[in-house]
Amino acid sequence: MSRLGRVLVMLVCAFGALTAGAWRYALAADEAAPQIKEYKPNISAREYEKRYNAVYGKYTEQMAEEGNPADFMLDDGKDLFSKVEGSAGKSCASCHGANGEKLKGAAAGFPKYDPATKGINTVALQINRCREDHMGAAPLKYESYDQLALDLYVKSLSNGVPIKVSIDGPARPFYEAGKAYYYKRHGQFNFSCALCHVKYSGHMMRANLLSNNRHHADHWPSYRLKWAGTGSLQRRFRGCNKNVRQKPLPFECETYRDLQLYLTYQANGLPIQVPGFKM
Ligand code: HEC
Ligand code: HEC
Repeated sequence: MSRLGRVLVMLVCAFGALTAGAWRYALAADEAAPQIKEYKPNISAREYEKRYNAVYGKYTEQMAEEGNPADFMLDDGKDLFSKVEGSAGKSCASCHGANGEKLKGAAAGFPKYDPATKGINTVALQINRCREDHMGAAPLKYESYDQLALDLYVKSLSNGVPIKVSIDGPARPFYEAGKAYYYKRHGQFNFSCALCHVKYSGHMMRANLLSNNRHHADHWPSYRLKWAGTGSLQRRFRGCNKNVRQKPLPFECETYRDLQLYLTYQANGLPIQVPGFKM
């Protein structure tokens, strides 16, 4: 064999060994975690912004000028914060400061893993835990006016603070579960969240511009024109479940909390801005 021939044979063998190794590695990774075929948005973030401004630009400007109706709820939340309730004779302010100063920035770390329940804790769950365990008061019904008002007020104490949720360590499996739900097809229409909000974001679906999920978790509770009222991110989940003819899940169930962790992680680094204002 010529010298060139020998070099070629060596190269081919080395390449073969490398690809076989990579293949085995890929198989092992496949067995370790169920593989999700992730989508890439089929337009750039910049192009999405352009389309967003073209569709909603003027409305959002007008809304900003006229003020957000959810601001009234925010004021009520502030009052509730210092209202004494329950057998311990305490208000939220008794422990967290007259103006909630000890909770500044706290919401930016939620949802988070909670060792006590070995699950994902949300601001809404934590508020009810404080009511039951620290105030001797009844938990608030999810999505009731007072519950939303307190949730909104607590989150507003972190307005401008960049979201920084952790998916490390024990939080990881819950994040993966949220992601799996996001990518799984659901409902009679057999759509996944990711299909609409990742792959086809920036495209029109009837009168709606499908949004990119990067900004989904930074502005809830929001006032929505369609609801003529204020609601939570999980109420929005329920709306999207119904859009694909899927049975919506109960508020604060494990799946919605995992989903919320997944979506909030996509918004890491963005400042919290509540209350939002949405179509
Ligand atoms: C008697 C003291 C007490 C009262 C009253 C109280 N909390 Fe808490 N709160 C705590 C403690 C202690 C924690 C730490 C977590 C735990 O033990 O549940 C906490 C944690 C929190 C957190 C999470 C803070 C973080 O950095 O992770 C929020 C948000 C919160 N409380 C909101 C409220 C609200 C809203 C109310 C009123 C409905 C309230 N708390 C009433 C003691 C209190
Ligand atoms: C058939 C397409 C479709 C599917 C599937 C879908 N959505 Fe939506 N979603 C929409 C439309 C349309 C809107 C309103 C316009 C917009 O903001 O994208 C919306 C809005 C939202 C919003 C509010 C966005 C904002 O800026 O506040 C969230 C959050 C959301 N969807 C989450 C989900 C989740 C979670 C799922 C899966 C359970 C899901 N969606 C499935 C079409 C869909």
